[in-house]
Amino acid sequence: MDVIEKIEQIQRRCEDLRLAGKILALVPTMGFFHEGHLELMRVAKRNADAVIISIFVNPTQFGPSEDFAAYPRDMEGDLAKAKNVGVDIAFTPSVKEMYPEGFQTTVSLGNLTNHLCGLSRPGHFQGVTTVVAKLFNIAKPHLAVFGQKDFQQLTVITKMVKDLNMDIQVVGMPTYREPDGLAMSSRNTYLSGAERKSALALKKSLDLASGMYDRGERDAARIKAAVEETILSHPHTEIDYVTVCDPVTLEDVETLTGETLIALAVRVGKTRLIDNCLLGSDSK
Ligand code: PAJ
Repeated sequence: MDVIEKIEQIQRRCEDLRLAGKILALVPTMGFFHEGHLELMRVAKRNADAVIISIFVNPTQFGPSEDFAAYPRDMEGDLAKAKNVGVDIAFTPSVKEMYPEGFQTTVSLGNLTNHLCGLSRPGHFQGVTTVVAKLFNIAKPHLAVFGQKDFQQLTVITKMVKDLNMDIQVVGMPTYREPDGLAMSSRNTYLSGAERKSALALKKSLDLASGMYDRGERDAARIKAAVEETILSHPHTEIDYVTVCDPVTLEDVETLTGETLIALAVRVGKTRLIDNCLLGSDSK
């Protein structure tokens, strides 16, 4: 596995691969790998000739009071794990390499970012779309793999690719979970023992919503109330949002008619966790 820090160098390497007729897959990450990340890489491997990952804790997607400095990092461990799943190239730029002095271009979306995490994390999605657009231009992959755990991120990136005519197939993969149901996240490492137990509130409340839906409940307010009650019955929890919405537009719905997204952001202690599930579809 090649580890490349310089943009010019990886651009040349990817261009050589494309000229040799190889299909390239990109998996953008911020590192501190868990099985969810590795699963995205395995899927990329099955669908491409060469897999490129990026490991870059992107400062522009963190708010001033968020955890950029504290975000967990383990470059050595990550590179060993990536190599083990057969990644071909790891792109590990510095902040200066990605945002040299004088950098001033951003990519931002309209309405889609005015919902869910966009409301509590102003500027977050602009940071994400700008860095992902840069990574797409740097690697020029044929496909790029993202997780549905960050459902809004996947929706926003899919829309950016469509609106800006980027010739890239965006692949979304189901959320990978711990055996007890907690969605894997690099931020789970912040949780104390007691908080780790309370963090199960997210998946439990989604399962409850799913059960209500299966028994015929179609009223969004009733589902939302039951989800909130379940979350708050766990200690150390504070709800950021519980949203019942259309999975394409992310607009709230009152009645569940077609496929519907339930998305949650919950603070457990100081750690903000997100999770979601789709109702009315085969994948939950
Ligand atoms: P990061 O949080 O490191 O996540 C990298 C990718 O892994 C994202 O596509 C995310 O949705 C996916 N992922 C995280 N947890 C997962 C899980 N439990 N199951 C399946 N996939 C999971 O998301 C980012 O980084 C950044 O915003 C990034 C896109 C790299 C831009 O900086």
